[in-house]
Amino acid sequence: MSNLIIVGAQWGDEGKGKVVDIITEKADLVVRFQGGNNAGHTLVVDGQKYALRLVPSGILHPGKTGVIANGVVVDPDVLLEEIDALNARGVKVSPDVLKISEKAHIIMPYHRDLDLAREGAKGEDKIGTTGRGIGPAYEDKAARSGLRMGDLKNLDSFRAKAAAAMREKIHLLKNLYKAETASLDEIMEKARLWRERLSPYLADARRVVQKAMNDGRNILFEGAQGVLLDIDHGSYPFVTSSNPVAGSVTTGVGLAPQKIEGVMALVKAYSTRVGAGPFPTELSGGPGDFLRKQGAEFGTVTGRPRRCGWLDAVVVKNSVELCGADHLAVTKLDVLSGLSELKIATHYMLDDEKIDFIPADVHDFERCQPVYETWPGFFNDISRARKLEDLPDSARRYLERLAELCGAPLGLVSVGPDREQTIMLHEYF
Ligand code: IMP
Repeated sequence: MSNLIIVGAQWGDEGKGKVVDIITEKADLVVRFQGGNNAGHTLVVDGQKYALRLVPSGILHPGKTGVIANGVVVDPDVLLEEIDALNARGVKVSPDVLKISEKAHIIMPYHRDLDLAREGAKGEDKIGTTGRGIGPAYEDKAARSGLRMGDLKNLDSFRAKAAAAMREKIHLLKNLYKAETASLDEIMEKARLWRERLSPYLADARRVVQKAMNDGRNILFEGAQGVLLDIDHGSYPFVTSSNPVAGSVTTGVGLAPQKIEGVMALVKAYSTRVGAGPFPTELSGGPGDFLRKQGAEFGTVTGRPRRCGWLDAVVVKNSVELCGADHLAVTKLDVLSGLSELKIATHYMLDDEKIDFIPADVHDFERCQPVYETWPGFFNDISRARKLEDLPDSARRYLERLAELCGAPLGLVSVGPDREQTIMLHEYF
């Protein structure tokens, strides 16, 4: 295997940062292919905590190249902040080790303002977006009125394009939402800075990836969010505006489908969701509060408390199928320690029908009641386990059952935030 896609099999926040970071040891290139700074990947390296939003997690390893491919939407202010913060902590981020696609769309200040204004106006019906302008930036991409990173090369045409794109937004913001946004002059001031600082990072990212493949280098594709947030296959409209499924690498980077060699689905040992939308196994109080506290389930990007619930095998099986996952990477198993019983949803009841799939209609999905299997829990501290045999029987049985229900073997189990706190069951690369 010389390339691997890592995707989130639930609603995001499965702990991708840590897993990507571990697998990066043997990768040469780490590529982000969708999403933007709505993602927040937290990693602990040598006891130091890093929260990355746009820069591929692999950058924490010297000698690796990070690529932000065309499918990503880039907020240049956030990216610069992140580059500066990493450099200040001694993690070298330079144009030698970070490549940004010229085709990646820019999140403009008016995208952020529109995202916030729309959510504010929706009141009870809001999606609960991260407020980072992700949706409006992808809208402009589809409407063919977006600005791309490569547009920074010519500031005159950048100004003309921005002026044209802004007209409609300013009208909406001012008249419909009674909100303010940056002026064209203010945007151009930013654009000059973006150009000065980010131009050296711009590249034809698809060709960078293709060349790496031709040279036999190992490539890791780092997904953001999770399959249930996919704009086509998630619980629309409670989704993000990109495609977190594995197939998205084909368009988000420009890779022929038959070149994909491996897919790993990340599964948190329980379920969490931020923002609104159906969540059949959600728990209010009791074990839900336990999971939130033990798992520190608060958003990396927004700090919002995450909704918590039991593991949902219907959701994970759906993601395994959709993404063609070869392995499961189960994260945060240690968080379950202290619960006397563990539940896994194996099916749903939709009215009188027992089903083992996610209904396409979100209203049907909302009505699904989980059918659970109950498994014995465990109380031991498992953070020092490095082999499956080190785990209590009940934890092992829980993992085995998950793999069986979802139709993919285990590739890795994470038992704590540090790199070392990992049970590796498969060699990648
Ligand atoms: P947006 O991506 O900011 O437009 O938000 C749309 C939905 O996706 C909201 O429910 C967000 O909470 C959710 N979302 C976006 N990014 C992430 C992520 O990285 N982890 C978990 N949820 C996310």
